[in-house]
Amino acid sequence: MTSLFELASQIEMDPDGYSASCKGKILATLFFESSTRTRLSFESAMLRLGGTVLGFSEPSMSSHKKGESFHDTLQMVNAYADVAIVRHYLEGISEIVRDHATIPVISGGTGTQEHPTQALLDLYTMYKEFGSIDGLRIGVMGDLRYGRTVPSLLYGLRLFSDVEAHLVSPSILRVRNEVLEDIEDNLTVHQTDTLNEALPDLDVLYVTRIQKERFHDPADYQRVKTGYVIDASTLGSCKPGFILMHPLPRVGEIAYDVDELPCARYFPQARNGVWMRMALILQLMGFEGRRWW
Ligand code: NCD
Repeated sequence: MTSLFELASQIEMDPDGYSASCKGKILATLFFESSTRTRLSFESAMLRLGGTVLGFSEPSMSSHKKGESFHDTLQMVNAYADVAIVRHYLEGISEIVRDHATIPVISGGTGTQEHPTQALLDLYTMYKEFGSIDGLRIGVMGDLRYGRTVPSLLYGLRLFSDVEAHLVSPSILRVRNEVLEDIEDNLTVHQTDTLNEALPDLDVLYVTRIQKERFHDPADYQRVKTGYVIDASTLGSCKPGFILMHPLPRVGEIAYDVDELPCARYFPQARNGVWMRMALILQLMGFEGRRWW
């Protein structure tokens, strides 16, 4: 993973040096769930690499609406593109991709399960900030049950040494057991329902949105929706060098007065998505950072 960080960093320092690296290549973007950052940053990444982009941003704009199966849509993408990004609500989608894709297919997020490229850019943001992820104390707060960025981030953090994760959420939104089981061997995990105690020790606080659309019972959403909000006054006890991250979109869990604070990193974090996704596309297309001038 560190080699991907290095490549993203090289690209970030000299994006023009890669502006023809994917000339003649086509990225397909297949979004069966809504997206702003993931789709646009992948499109931006491919265009900055000199490639082109085709696809749809919602399933009603494709033959999905007529009842076409994902399997058949994938056959078309195999024929029309060189690399694809797929965001889907079905949890079993990666098996279909694995069995039937003949081109590299990147996950753009799967239901409540995972969002691996978000984790890559989240980790790249920490790596840039601290020079290393080893030894960091990271708070992850909000909807840890339904937010798909959370498992992917934890799986990523698990690959580094001596990382402590402080998981802050109401009890009904705790990290799912199967995720905890997968990470606890190499990540020190503390679960709590309040932030106050952990905050002064944290290097990073990663806030997530309460995922209204994933709740089975709307009453549960009403109960927890306003409990985990950060404003400028919340952050008074943070240590020097502390940073605040969020995958975005935010819907009230970080107040606008935080944007001006030196610790706010969520917009640079989103921008890092372009460099990281350029690096990922290059690696998948086998260019490995070679440049074409
Ligand atoms: C997230 C997502 O779609 O999972 N956003 C993103 O991709 N940056 C987070 C969310 O929807 O809350």
